[in-house]
Amino acid sequence: MALKLSVIGTGYLGATHAACMASLGFDVVGIDVDESKISQLKLGKVPFFEPELEPLLAEQIASGRLTFTTDFSAIADCDVHFICVGTPQMKDGLAADISYVNASLDAVAKIVKSGALVVGKSTVPVGTAMRLREKLLSINPAADLAWNPEFLREGFAVEDTLHPSRLVVGVMSDSAENILKEVYAANLAEGTPWVRSDLPTAELVKVAANSFLATKISFINAMAEICDASGADVTVLAQAIGYDPRIGNKFLQAGIGFGGGCLPKDIRAFMARAGELGATESLEFLREIDSINNRSRNKVVEMAKRELGGSCEGKRVAVLGAAFKPNSDDIRDSPALYIASQLKVAGADVVVHDPKAIENSKKKYPELSYVDSVDELLAGADLVLHLTEWKQYREIDPVHAKSLAHGAIIIDGRNALDMNAWSSAGWRIHAVGRTSR
Ligand code: UGA
Repeated sequence: MALKLSVIGTGYLGATHAACMASLGFDVVGIDVDESKISQLKLGKVPFFEPELEPLLAEQIASGRLTFTTDFSAIADCDVHFICVGTPQMKDGLAADISYVNASLDAVAKIVKSGALVVGKSTVPVGTAMRLREKLLSINPAADLAWNPEFLREGFAVEDTLHPSRLVVGVMSDSAENILKEVYAANLAEGTPWVRSDLPTAELVKVAANSFLATKISFINAMAEICDASGADVTVLAQAIGYDPRIGNKFLQAGIGFGGGCLPKDIRAFMARAGELGATESLEFLREIDSINNRSRNKVVEMAKRELGGSCEGKRVAVLGAAFKPNSDDIRDSPALYIASQLKVAGADVVVHDPKAIENSKKKYPELSYVDSVDELLAGADLVLHLTEWKQYREIDPVHAKSLAHGAIIIDGRNALDMNAWSSAGWRIHAVGRTSR
């Protein structure tokens, strides 16, 4: 008999995991405390934008394998429970708020059947899994707990879940590993690397990976600062160093830096945890990574102010992009919206366009203006900022854009536009780490 799975927490991670596991043939119950989220999911509606997820979800609900509930007693017969709830940054510090993980463990511990496995997927401070396992076993000694971090990228969540780069399983017993091998049999059959570890190593793999990615981005943004100071070109530099396979050409896109619900909060939570462990010095460099990242956003704010002649008062600033990255409607810690709101505070009339993230942006930044079309956005603009590199923005015709705008100045905060094409069309174009044209 195929295993029956539950997925606790139905956000980006959980909803995707639930739909993907159902597509592999498992019976899956998604559970969340948020009634409105569950009622939407029951109707096959994904409460956020993630390519490919909605049709997959609808298909799996129709197959009868995927159901949703808010009632924990409905998952009591499951063999495996995946904890996929969020661990946001604390309001009053750098550490992660793991109260949702704790609450999930408490709830599942009450109903878990003997022989079942609880599997943490949320990103947590090292040491959490061991503590949760002890608690679970004190309530049901015949259950077990494993940690199985998730590496999916928003925008590619379905692809990354069905075909992960690797599977990391932190376990304390062979039986726990065997259950996970059954869950991930399809991945094992296609040769996905399988790494068995202890619980703390599995927890650390996740934050170490995100810290490395954040470091790569801040490294190239630091190089962009040096390029600005010396007249060099950071895009050519990135291309050239990227040919060395030890460096690699990914995650070397200089610009306004990283945002989102993961990289910024994960490096901060990692620093906070290192402090608790008496290892502050080991992660001191992440403080610098974070400050380079913050500087990258602020540099574009300053550049925009300069281009507006020092005063933003009454100037129309057109912002292309609000999401923290393309193919997502996620605006958590979005560098684009940070820049937009800073210019609004400075007195500019800031208008924002995004193909998917306008609804979310309106809720968090009601003071900004929003438009549905790029033409409307560009009309009468004194300054244009390209801040999220959606494909459709690369397809804008600079000649047409110039006929709409008031000024012809654009800042490419993502190094994604064709500088020659924009400058030939009569624009003054600035980009991070490159000579303006
Ligand atoms: C990140 C990791 O890439 C995933 O592996 C991880 O599973 C996930 O966090 C998580 O912890 O859940 P994600 O937040 O979806 O995934 O976004 P990324 O693709 O990593 O991009 C993060 C930010 O870095 C974006 O704001 C993006 O614009 C920026 N970025 C990325 C750059 O500024 N330059 C680059 O070269 C690449």
